Amino acid sequence: MSATSELQATIEALARQGAGILAADESGPTIAKRFKAIGVESTEENRRAYRSAMLSTPGLGQYICGVILYEETLGQRADDGEPLPQLAARQGIVPGIKVDTGKIPLALAPGDEITQGLDGLAQRLDGYKQLGARFAKWRAVYNIAPTLPGRAAVEANAESLARYAAICQAQGVVPIVEPEVLLDGDHTIARCAEVTQAVLHEVFHALHRHGVVLEHMLLKPSMVVPGKANALQAGPEEVAAQTLRVLRRTVPAAVPSINFLSGGQSPEEATANLQAMNQMGPQPWLLSFSYGRALQDPAQKAWQGKSDHARDCQNALLKRARLNGAASVGKYSE
Ligand code: 13P
Repeated sequence: MSATSELQATIEALARQGAGILAADESGPTIAKRFKAIGVESTEENRRAYRSAMLSTPGLGQYICGVILYEETLGQRADDGEPLPQLAARQGIVPGIKVDTGKIPLALAPGDEITQGLDGLAQRLDGYKQLGARFAKWRAVYNIAPTLPGRAAVEANAESLARYAAICQAQGVVPIVEPEVLLDGDHTIARCAEVTQAVLHEVFHALHRHGVVLEHMLLKPSMVVPGKANALQAGPEEVAAQTLRVLRRTVPAAVPSINFLSGGQSPEEATANLQAMNQMGPQPWLLSFSYGRALQDPAQKAWQGKSDHARDCQNALLKRARLNGAASVGKYSE
């Protein structure tokens, strides 16, 4: 298959009405933090058991069209020996892979960060493809403060996201472009809108400069929300209106699907916000989810590291997947 027809086939599978993406690509330190919260040690076997339980959830493929895996998971197997990417694919869930190698401080720009991982990326993608990965993810992070993010951080992260996306497409791998504006801080929703708009504008400028085909990528943005330390929080209607206004100003209609991250919102909030956006009338793109915590939190609480809780873990995951699947077509009701 040519790279273009591979990209097209993967996009069609990922931009499926009523379904979204499960982000299960927590790095070593992040999954250790999540496991610690439920009193579980982060060993390779515990990570395998947990992720294997999630991926074997009966019927998960109805609401989940793709799963973002961490490199370690791509090489792990289910209890019966089936490779985990193969298990996902058999469920109708396209396996994907996080390919950035994390963020570091941006030199000479206090408070700003830059994501790494471009060196050798084409070769790494070759290997990931052989293990079954058909799409990739790269996350850039932006902190909000009165003077942050700075111009250099906005431009440097856009350039890296675009170079990553171009390398993926050249290899026949669909890139998920993830610019995450963090919700930490006491800023207003208006300030978040201003930063998100500047970030997305720069990201699409860079994607254009690098020749990235917009029809063959997905955008994974954060929603426009007030800082979590701001006393004035916003309801789903306001979040939806502010987020859509920014997206309509910055994201070309050629992008097939926008899959939000949850970024620390509660599972209920993340679903209600997605539902509100999908009730605001037709948009040029699908509006779906690529949630990590908002899908997995209840599943982890149910699991508790116990193999005889696997079924409860699966039920909790399936419930959030089903509700978010409904919200992605504006049909969620509490
Ligand atoms: P959250 O939905 O927990 O923000 O995770 C999504 C993700 O992949 C962050 O990179």
